[in-house]
Amino acid sequence: MASESVTLLNDKRIVLGVTGSIAVYKAVDLASKLTQAGALVDVVMTASAKRFVTPLTFQSVTGRPVYDDMWTSGSSELPTHIAHVGLGEGSDLFVIAPATANTLAKLAAGAADDLLTVTALAARCPVLIAPAMDGGMYGHPATQRNLRDLQAQGVFLIEPEEGRFASGLVGKGRLPETATLLGMIRWTLSRNGPLAGRKVVVTAGGTREAIDPVRYITNRSSGKQGYAVAQAAVDAGSDVVLVTTTVGLPAPIGATMVPVASAGDMLDSVQAHIANADVLIMAAAVADFRPAEIATQKIKKSLASDDVPTIELSRTADILLAIKEQREGSGWPRVTVGFAAESHDLLDNARSKLDRKGLDLIVANDIMSTDAGFETDTNRVVLLDRSGDQQEIDLASKARIAEAVVGRVVELLSNSAPQ
Ligand code: CTP
Repeated sequence: MASESVTLLNDKRIVLGVTGSIAVYKAVDLASKLTQAGALVDVVMTASAKRFVTPLTFQSVTGRPVYDDMWTSGSSELPTHIAHVGLGEGSDLFVIAPATANTLAKLAAGAADDLLTVTALAARCPVLIAPAMDGGMYGHPATQRNLRDLQAQGVFLIEPEEGRFASGLVGKGRLPETATLLGMIRWTLSRNGPLAGRKVVVTAGGTREAIDPVRYITNRSSGKQGYAVAQAAVDAGSDVVLVTTTVGLPAPIGATMVPVASAGDMLDSVQAHIANADVLIMAAAVADFRPAEIATQKIKKSLASDDVPTIELSRTADILLAIKEQREGSGWPRVTVGFAAESHDLLDNARSKLDRKGLDLIVANDIMSTDAGFETDTNRVVLLDRSGDQQEIDLASKARIAEAVVGRVVELLSNSAPQ
């Protein structure tokens, strides 16, 4: 199946500057993934980059001309025939990945002796740089000073990772994997989005209620819908806090991750982060019951085969109800969104939860079909709001559902009381 386009990247013009590092092979993957996501990728290569990979490789994955010479004119794909101006003009983002120590030094100083550095000077869009080099070079005071200078110029940086280099040495300086680069590109592109300057708290996953140090009670929530909502909120420009029980899903780049386990932990954490938040989106499947006592040691079975322990349950706090009370006093968060996972009477149950929990919007989710709800990558939901409006969203990826939810949040926020 072809990978799904990313709404934020659709038809965005991205210039990808590539310099002479062994990590160039990762830039090929990046160019390919950006193109699959819907972006128009114009690659600019330095002479050193071409010693590792040929322009044809990039041209093959982007389907667009590759630029490598300051002295030849641009292509008909560009807004003007002067390549460096054409590339910089009208682009949404200039990414330099990998960026060598030499290119960093030139960019910091404003030197412009090849197409990549001339384009960087001419560019009016945000510039995002991913340094890649051996640890000694990265840690060198000259490189560190250049990075500080670039940041002071407003350039965004992607921090290199620690690990093993091609040289066999170990240290900090590796180009991150494509998913991280893509995430940083999304974060940089989204900073002027409709939720810029807003703080959004999202919860995800099924809570885990401990029985003893080994066992717990949980539910089938995978956290995928909550993570997709967090990514959509990042893509809309907000500062996102993701309170999650889920382990193993890739974190949306740019979101602050807060790992929790139980409903009680989640309540504490939501309360700690909600005080100055504009929006709370409770996508988590919070347990309603927990073991009344948590055994401090593993519960052992005895030799008698009919010896079965009884686990007494008690109620957990309802997080949305607690926030409703808080909100009645302070007015914050401005907008709260809940999810309703139902096996029957979907709309009636969802609407009663919307009222009881004082929500602005509820995402009603029929969990009985196999292609929607728990653990799947797709979902089918109905969005209900306080005015009685009902919006059905037919089977779609959880990313698309998340975008629809965040789109409604944007509308609700713009209608809510001014701060
Ligand atoms: N929720 C919550 N605190 C709880 C239980 C649920 O904040 N202790 C939130 C969920 O995150 C979701 C919404 O309330 O956004 C509805 O959750 P759901 O499990 O569908 O409803 P419940 O209120 O638990 O009611 P029931 O399980 O009886 O359907």
